[in-house]
This record gives sequence, C-alpha cells and structure tokens, in this order.
Amino acid sequence: MYRFQLTTTLYYGPDSLSALSELAGRRVLIVTDAFLAGSSLMVQVREALSGATIEVYDRVIPNPDVAAVAAGLAAFLAFEPEALLAVGGGSPIDTAKAVRKLALELGHRAEAGFYVIPTTSGTGSEVTSFAVVTDPVSHAKLPLSSDDMLPDVAILDPDAVSTAPPFLVADSGMDAISHAIEAYVAIGHNDFSDALAEKALRMADTYLLRSYRSNLDVKARTHQHTGATMAGIAFQNSGLGIVHSLSHAIGGSFKVAHGRLNGILLPHVIEFNAGELGIRPGEISDVARRYVTLARSLGLSASSDRNLVLGLVGWVERVRRELEMPATITAAGIDRDAFLAAIPVLAHTALKDFCTSGNPIEVTVADLAAILEWVS
Ligand SMILES: NC(=O)c1ccc[n+]([C@@H]2O[C@H](COP(=O)([O-])OP(=O)(O)OC[C@H]3O[C@@H](n4cnc5c(N)ncnc54)[C@H](O)[C@@H]3O)[C@@H](O)[C@H]2O)c1
Ligand SMILES: [Fe+2]
Repeated sequence: MYRFQLTTTLYYGPDSLSALSELAGRRVLIVTDAFLAGSSLMVQVREALSGATIEVYDRVIPNPDVAAVAAGLAAFLAFEPEALLAVGGGSPIDTAKAVRKLALELGHRAEAGFYVIPTTSGTGSEVTSFAVVTDPVSHAKLPLSSDDMLPDVAILDPDAVSTAPPFLVADSGMDAISHAIEAYVAIGHNDFSDALAEKALRMADTYLLRSYRSNLDVKARTHQHTGATMAGIAFQNSGLGIVHSLSHAIGGSFKVAHGRLNGILLPHVIEFNAGELGIRPGEISDVARRYVTLARSLGLSASSDRNLVLGLVGWVERVRRELEMPATITAAGIDRDAFLAAIPVLAHTALKDFCTSGNPIEVTVADLAAILEWVS
C-alpha cells in the first residue's frame, strides 16, 4: 500500500498574494527574517492583509537552530495569533513550522490557519511536513517531521521571488533538482510522486537558467517556483536519499548553502546509486533504469542505458556549471584538510540521517565516507 497526501491548498501565479484576504480581521503573526521584513514584498503582504492585526517576528536566522525556534515560540505565546504566516525561504518557513508544532503541543492552535509565502524556489518546505533545525551542540541538521507542520495554505506568487539574486536562484534551483531526482528513485516513490518529480525536473530544465539570468523573466520565475513546489510534494510522499543525508551532515559543520552542497553531491550519488562502475553492457539495475527514464524525459539520448545514466550525470554537471556553482567542497570555500579530517564524523552523522532510509541503495559508513572523499 502507498500513501499520497495532499494537505496544503495552493494559490499560485501572479496576484496570488490576494489570497491573504482570507485572513482579514484576524490576528496574524508573521515569521520572517530581517531582510524580508524590510522588503517591498512585506509592503504588499501588509496591503493584502488589510484589516488584520499584524505582529512581525523578524529575527529568523539562516539555518535556524533550537534557540531561534524558542525565540519564535516566545513571540507566538506573547501575541496569541489566530493565524501564523511564514514569509521567506526555508529558514523562516522551517522556524514557523517548528513554532507551530510546539505551540500546538502547548495547546495553542492558531485556528485561522498556517499560511506560507515561499520567497525562494527550492526547499519545498511550503508543502512538506519536515523542518530542518540545527542542533547547536552537535552541529547536526536535524530533520523534524510531523503532519502538524504541514502548512494549510501556500501562496506561490512570482512577486515573492522577483528580488532573489542569481546565487540564491542557483542554490534553490539545485535543491529543487535534487528533490526531483532523489524523489524519483527513492524507496517510497510511487506513480503520483513520479509524475510530479519528472515534471518538476523538466520545468527546471526549461526555466531554471532563465530564472538565473534575469529576474525580469516573470514567466520563468513563475514556473520555476511552481516546479520547485511540485518537487516538494513529490519528496514529501516518496522520501529522499543520501544527497540530503550528506548535505545535512556537511551543512551542520561547514557554512555552505544547502543547495550548493547538493549540487556537488548529486552527480556522485547518481553514479553510486546506479552502480555506475558495475553497469556492464546489457545489464542494468532497477535504480539505474529509473535514472535512464529521467534522462529520456529530459530529451537526452545515448547509445546505451549506461551512457544515458552518465548523460543524466552530465546534465546535472552542465546545469551546475551554467549556474556558476562549485563542483567540489574545496571550490565551495571549505578548507580541504579540515574537511578530510571531519569525514569520519560526517559519514556517521549522514548514516543516522532520516533521509538515508529513503535511499534506493543500502549504504554503509564506508560508502558515505568514500563519497565524501570523492567530492572533496
Ligand atoms: N523543510 C524542508 O523540507 C527543507 C528542505 C530543504 C532545505 N531546508 C532548509 O531551508 C533552509 C534554506 O532555505 P533557503 O535556501 O530557502 O534560504 P533561507 O531562508 O535560509 O534564506 C537565505 C537568504 O536569502 C534571503 N532571501 C530569501 N528570499 C529572498 C528573496 N526573494 N530576495 C532576496 N533575498 C532573499 C534571506 O533573507 C536570507 O538572507 C536551510 O535551513 C535548509 O536546511 C528545508
Ligand atoms: Fe533540500
């Protein structure tokens, strides 16, 4: 038996911010970060919320930790909102999700709903029951999971992503690509998640580079935004894999954006999962066959299935290059010796990560350490 759940109502496309009129007259706590609190988007959000009593908690930090969540919860309990509204990338959305969960545990239900306005096109957090919170002691990124954290409403308005600078479009876009590819081969993949993952990948193929090159390309930014959410719905229902386990482990110890790390890891993980070195002519594993299907859906062609898997690897590397993203950990600015010294701990942390159980191939600490060495 499979389970495919659709909980979040989506409003998308130009002018979808007007859906906020549903909250007119309500007490609304906005959870956001300092940059977005002062942005033109926030002016539009306030206008769309006209008639609401608004409190803004704007002290969210990138890669939120336990203390950031506790501070958000204190703001929630002090204001007692009827609705919670997260405005931002994965960091404000994940903070709001954890606040929502803890407030519920304390008996406070913001009964008018949990709304989110993603301002990056990548994490999928607007449609998932996951929140990533950093443990300040171990530095591990902890993926929390609860259906209580699923947003009731997500508003995908292109105005929310129009100010995103190219590097943020690149990092988020590579995160969305990783979600689509990992979801497509994950243990829990199913017909519905497959359809969304495949479509999300094709949308990234068409619109990501255009979004990167110009924030005036509204069509590209609109579709890259909806595509990233599709990838989020896909992985919410299929699970992810070791690109994310390794990315969470590295991201907890070294300051590199999540999507940038995914872009470094993804080609190597595809080769590992496909057993690239083990693919002999005429012999192909089920996982490799799924990568072949993805490669074909991108319009790639090659003389053999093996070459199609390598074609998919090459496609990721080409997109990464055109997005001007680093190909190795060292190129991402991490000291190589410090990284090599950390590999044993990182490999153990990644093995225990929630996403590892979704990977289509069983992995050992030695496998994960080898991949880490490979990407250094
Ligand atoms: N919940 C999930 O399922 C999930 C999935 C993937 C990643 N994550 C988490 O999400 C976080 C990363 O989120 P993110 O990459 O969306 O970025 P972010 O929320 O951390 O924001 C990064 C920076 O970009 C700025 N920014 C955001 N939107 C902008 C815009 N439209 N214009 C200009 N600047 C903008 C922010 O102010 C911030 O300075 C990490 O903590 C990661 O672990 C969660
Ligand atoms: Fe991700």
